[in-house]
Amino acid sequence: MTVLEVLQATTAYFKKRNVENARLNAEHLLAHVLGRKRIELYLEFERALTETELGPLRDLVKRRSEGEPLQHLLGTVEFCGLTFLCDKRAMVPRPETEELVESLKSEIQDPKSKIIDVGTGSGVIVLSLAAEFPEAKIMAVDISDDALALAQENAAKLGLTDRVRFLKSRLLENTEGTFDLIVANLPYISTQDRSILSREVLYDPEVALFAGTRGDELVRELIDQAPSRLRPGGLLALEVGLGQSDTLLSAMAEKNYRDICSKNDYNGVTRFLFARYG
Ligand SMILES: C[S@@+](CC[C@H](N)C(=O)[O-])C[C@H]1O[C@@H](n2cnc3c(N)ncnc32)[C@H](O)[C@@H]1O
Repeated sequence: MTVLEVLQATTAYFKKRNVENARLNAEHLLAHVLGRKRIELYLEFERALTETELGPLRDLVKRRSEGEPLQHLLGTVEFCGLTFLCDKRAMVPRPETEELVESLKSEIQDPKSKIIDVGTGSGVIVLSLAAEFPEAKIMAVDISDDALALAQENAAKLGLTDRVRFLKSRLLENTEGTFDLIVANLPYISTQDRSILSREVLYDPEVALFAGTRGDELVRELIDQAPSRLRPGGLLALEVGLGQSDTLLSAMAEKNYRDICSKNDYNGVTRFLFARYG
């Protein structure tokens, strides 16, 4: 079979097995197996593939059709222009979170800001900020040893090991001092919504997905904790779940945050909350 025929057959198979973006997934997996960039496949459409090349692809196609996330199969994910390792130790970073980081890049005025990322997962938020702000003093916490191990591997891969201090902590409990920015994309799914999640999402660690029966419990707890840990005028930036913004914005107002505002993601969901304290 040629490259083009393999792509067409894989795309058809993925469609039958309800894999979203079937053609794109097929291209990513074939490019991965051949060690090419996806775009380079287009220059090789007529080339016949050998059995040695097709063998590994079959395994990946089967796993993808059973719901294993593309990013786990590739072992990497692109985020804010950087390449991160990605596996089952932490949540697959979502494109919305890139929007949060982009907002923060324009929000951070002092290049020497003291920043903490709470629930860092694979480290995508904190390492993207570390790359952007070379003078910032940066820390990241997570409750999961697995996530912290992956985040530290990502720091090493990006040459940012010396830039970020990683610490195991439940929210801000094991941390000291005050920050100019507390950013968090914490778990925000209700345990009651487990049955409506896609099979891909269920490959993410439980601890990265579920917060409690409401879904917003951990975010609320951080909203309560943050005022004592923000420097005067410091910023709290949160990614939240669908339909959670109104009550969380009210919770911020009750706690006397100021400059409270929200921002929609590209899908029109109110996804990001920002507020200053003091
Ligand atoms: C939704 S994932 C987000 C990961 C990463 N920030 C991202 O945007 O891709 C939430 C992360 O919070 C961590 N986490 C869950 N409960 C926590 C807690 N109580 N304290 C600190 N981290 C927690 C999870 O282990 C997970 O890595």
